[in-house]
Amino acid sequence: MRNWAEGVFALVVIVGLGAALFMFSGETLGEGTTDATAPMTVDPDAAVRGEIIAGSTGCLACHTTDGAPGSGPTWRGVAGSSRPLQSGEVVIADDVYLTNSILDPGSQVVVGFDNIMPPDFADSLTEGEVGDLVEYIKSLTG
Ligand code: HEC
Repeated sequence: MRNWAEGVFALVVIVGLGAALFMFSGETLGEGTTDATAPMTVDPDAAVRGEIIAGSTGCLACHTTDGAPGSGPTWRGVAGSSRPLQSGEVVIADDVYLTNSILDPGSQVVVGFDNIMPPDFADSLTEGEVGDLVEYIKSLTG
């Protein structure tokens, strides 16, 4: 060691770095990565209402809820999964995506399907009904 002041300086830097690492470890880093894979929260009452609306609105003519193929993608396991779109984008099916898929289906068409979903649900369904449908779709996990 050339002189004690250098030694003390080095010690302060090392302790400082250690403290900084300790303080910032696991903070935003952890949150950001777990969010995408965290199980979605579902409102069970809304999901029950959504199931009834899905039956009475004709969604189930094109969408299955058990994973079976249909003219539209099955709803089983869609929520939280990545959806490849015809635009080339790949998006996570979160609440915003699911809501938009109902209100403006032509804006985000899933690869492998035609743009045949009726575009007028934004007029015929209330905001509450769309929210209930989204909760129902989110309840169909696995
Ligand atoms: C005439 C058939 C048809 C009907 C009726 C229909 N859909 Fe669809 N839906 C589709 C097709 C085809 C797609 C895939 C193409 C696209 O993304 O627009 C789709 C996509 C979706 C998606 C995105 C799914 C995914 O895999 O990313 C959601 C959510 C959805 N529909 C909800 C609904 C709801 C809710 C209703 C009833 C209110 C409904 N659909 C009625 C055909 C239909």
